[in-house]
Amino acid sequence: MGKNVILETIAREMKTGVLVLDKAGQALYANPFFLNSFPFKGAIDGKKVNEIIQNVNLLKNIEGFLNNRGGKSSDIEISDGGRFFNVHIVPIKEKGDFSLLLFLQDITEEKKVETIKKDFVANVSHELRTPLASIKGYSETLLDGGMDDKETLKEFLRVIDRHATRMARLIDDLLILSRLESHQMAIISAPVELNDLIFTTTKGFEKQARDKGIAISAEIPDDLPKVMGDRDRLEQVVVNLLDNAIKYTHSGGSVTVKAKREDGGVRVDITDTGMGIPSGDIPRIFERFYRVDKARSRELGGTGLGLAIVKHIIQGHNGKLFVESTPGKGSTFSFLLKSGA
Ligand SMILES: Nc1ncnc2c1ncn2[C@@H]1O[C@H](COP(=O)(O)OP(=O)(O)OP(=O)(O)O)[C@@H](O)[C@H]1O
Ligand SMILES: [Mg+2]
Repeated sequence: MGKNVILETIAREMKTGVLVLDKAGQALYANPFFLNSFPFKGAIDGKKVNEIIQNVNLLKNIEGFLNNRGGKSSDIEISDGGRFFNVHIVPIKEKGDFSLLLFLQDITEEKKVETIKKDFVANVSHELRTPLASIKGYSETLLDGGMDDKETLKEFLRVIDRHATRMARLIDDLLILSRLESHQMAIISAPVELNDLIFTTTKGFEKQARDKGIAISAEIPDDLPKVMGDRDRLEQVVVNLLDNAIKYTHSGGSVTVKAKREDGGVRVDITDTGMGIPSGDIPRIFERFYRVDKARSRELGGTGLGLAIVKHIIQGHNGKLFVESTPGKGSTFSFLLKSGA
């Protein structure tokens, strides 16, 4: 097989853009990946580089190489039409002649991951700093003489305890999420009786609901089929959804859990008559740390991880998750699971 055929095939199939320029800055060759990354009309043959590339930064670099007839190969990062590229520029010299090779790599995904990581660290630090600052403030006041008064001591210790509990919960939630995301937490698939799970979980929330003046009830048919899944994880889903339903419903409202057969599986609806969620926020509420009203949610002790955990668990069960909500009227969070043997 001819070397040229092999080289051409490589250039055609590779997921790196290649552009070759001559010493006058005219295009000699571009592979399909390059052409698709920098769309322009017609053939590139004979065109000047500034007719092909609009990116000012990249053009300036290329012109530098052309003017100097050489230089050290270098890398520059550019963005074009919402995508990010790394361009590796390599000058080649041969017998007084000169050309420039450009290798273009799409690094949009890496950039995204980088941003998510940065945001994540910033969010976690912020969420931990808030309760920590309170713990520090209150304990300092106590040590500065506040503890001499028994009432103050008791009150401040309670605040410290509440913030410490919150930090512990945040760390627990982060660990659960990180295990779910790295697939370290295998979903145990065994038949689970949702009937029993929902009744027990709902019972666990009765006091919290009563204290807030909210009626809570569950309506589940006796002949509900079992679903395949991990009981503890599914319980976490119901706990997180019930916690939200109560948290975001005013006194005098109600929270209802219903389950029924649907699509050869089981569908669970958790309905509240609470504040609801604006439609623009709905697509984002399953993101980590996303809260519709940050100040309000934090006041209620929330960090915005509950629904991210719910989403991961339901996805891990190959189930479906839906939300319907009307601001001022209430919300229904539903999930659908396959039924088991
Ligand atoms: N039933 C609901 N009614 C109204 N808003 C809701 C409801 N459930 C969730 N939300 C909104 O979605 C956001 C994200 O919910 P999520 O459970 O992930 O976080 P959180 O409740 O704020 O904190 P956490 O669950 O970590 O304690 C909430 O802050 C709230 O704004
Ligand atoms: Mg929550």
